[in-house]
Amino acid sequence: MISGLHHIIFLFLFPILLLRSSEFVSTAVVTLNSIEIFTTHEWFKSPTVYFQCKGENKTFLPDVKGKDIKYMFKGEESWQPLTELLNRKCKRCSLYEEDPIKSDVFDEWELCASDFSRSDGQYSHFKEKEFNATLICIECASLIVDANSDSKESSGSQNAGKGMHWALIVVISVLVSTLFVLGLVIVVKYLQKRKRRKEQARFLQLFEEDDDIEDELGIGPLSSSPL
Ligand SMILES: *[C@@H]1O[C@H](CO)[C@@H](O)[C@H](O)[C@H]1NC(C)=O
Ligand SMILES: *[C@@H]1O[C@H](CO)[C@@H](O)[C@H](O)[C@H]1NC(C)=O
Repeated sequence: MISGLHHIIFLFLFPILLLRSSEFVSTAVVTLNSIEIFTTHEWFKSPTVYFQCKGENKTFLPDVKGKDIKYMFKGEESWQPLTELLNRKCKRCSLYEEDPIKSDVFDEWELCASDFSRSDGQYSHFKEKEFNATLICIECASLIVDANSDSKESSGSQNAGKGMHWALIVVISVLVSTLFVLGLVIVVKYLQKRKRRKEQARFLQLFEEDDDIEDELGIGPLSSSPL
């Protein structure tokens, strides 16, 4: 009964726990849609261009071999995606041209989910005389929505509203499951009691029938002892 009780409470709370965790961990994939570089930093060979966010691996762009050419991508290339954004945390990312001694930087900038506010999830990063890159992040829109609701949350009444909302759901589900379990216990107890009463009644009835038989035969309860 006790373990059943736990199961029932767990069943009630599980979807809520799940919802809450999905609210906190959300990542959005960022892919490169197009790029055009306007300069090369190496003089004698074709450039080797790569993208890198702080603390992450380099993503080489093997197709980008010359300046003033617009390279278009599908987003499915073997080296995609460029990176992933976690929640609404910006990343410090750069576009480099590889150099055996020290890589040259086209630009270093903050890559944020909120940059991808257009409905098609595109965002162009342009630096004069260096490059123009269009990145795509479809899922960033949902991160932005999260961010908006979060920022509203931190502004007083909305915060209380959302907190209340969750607290209410938790309290209601705990109440409902408790009531449900209580109801079950009461019903089981009642059925047990009824069963016992019935058995008692049948037992008593047996005795009464015995008495009746004894009365009919004209023998008292004591005279049955020789048997
Ligand atoms: C970075 O590169 C290393 C070695 O190639 C690899 O083991 C690791 O999984 C990569 N990390 C990411 C986040 O891709
Ligand atoms: C950069 O490229 C995008 C996509 O091709 C284009 O829409 C945008 O106008 C370009 N920006 C500049 C400043 O050239």
